[in-house]
Amino acid sequence: MENHSMDKHIVTTDDDQAIRKVLQILLRKEGYQVTVCSTGDELLAMLKASAATVDLVLLDIKMPGLSGMQVLEIIRRNYPRIPVIMLTAFNDLDTGMKAIRLGASDYLAKPVHREVLVDCVSRVLDATALIQDEVAEKDHFLVHQKELEDKLQSALGALKSTTLATLEAFTETIEQKDPYTKGHCSRVRNISLAIARALNFSKESLHTLEGGALLHDIGKIGIPEEILNKPSKLSESEYALIREHPVAGERIVSHIDMFQAYRPIIRSHHERMDGKGYPDGLKGDQIPLDVRIVSLADAFDAMTTSRAYRSALPIEIAVEELKLFSGTQFDPDLVNLFIEKEIFLL
Ligand SMILES: [Fe+2]
Repeated sequence: MENHSMDKHIVTTDDDQAIRKVLQILLRKEGYQVTVCSTGDELLAMLKASAATVDLVLLDIKMPGLSGMQVLEIIRRNYPRIPVIMLTAFNDLDTGMKAIRLGASDYLAKPVHREVLVDCVSRVLDATALIQDEVAEKDHFLVHQKELEDKLQSALGALKSTTLATLEAFTETIEQKDPYTKGHCSRVRNISLAIARALNFSKESLHTLEGGALLHDIGKIGIPEEILNKPSKLSESEYALIREHPVAGERIVSHIDMFQAYRPIIRSHHERMDGKGYPDGLKGDQIPLDVRIVSLADAFDAMTTSRAYRSALPIEIAVEELKLFSGTQFDPDLVNLFIEKEIFLL
């Protein structure tokens, strides 16, 4: 998608006057409207007065007064629509990753080169435009929600035998409810199968894994879209509702004989190796291997695709995240295999 730079308004914030000047010149040359601020407080005051006119914020991490990270958190909380690119003097992945984890769309290391800056800004603006289009489309999905749930009900009632096509139809019902996860279930299936093949799973185990991977989020059918797609922080009760989806999903499939084998994957795909997951707080080997595979595939795909509350992470950052949570959230052997066999390139 093309963004039309003429209409876009970028606010840059940096305590260094020379950098402010350079950014302003480079971006104006590209046709963007540019406003410069010298402190976080000045930026926040500007947003308070006219946030609706701002399309993108460029934010220095290291500033006197409010730090870039503090300002980033305030923007994410109060203006979730506005993407933020962080500028860092330290060209290290840690600082950038921390910013991305806090909700920045991307980060740039200083000194910023023209092409890198222009490319990054236009990529982030395009991704934001795409997300906003999808949000507009979401209203259309809302109208059909009742219809979809009725369809699922009758599919459940009429189900006599299960085939892959049936599983895919179920999956589509979940995905239509949540436009951000379009294709998510089938990508989780593909990643899970690639891992399992590398581990020489039997044909039957592959079948169970495949069905479980496709249906893992079936319990989301009961969660309102407004919550699933909320771009800002969830309230405690909303988060509690989201956390119910594994148990709700297991309850749905418990009525269907042929789906019994998928129950562990559906119930336990949010468990963690360190026992801090949900719903049962299972630990290590208590979590079956196929469940651990789906958890990893699910998390990796979620990180590398855009969601209502953040844009997609680059693959290399997502791989770093897997390494970072290897052993606590994810099975370390599976993380190693995933990297060694380059399954992330799938
Ligand atoms: Fe889930």
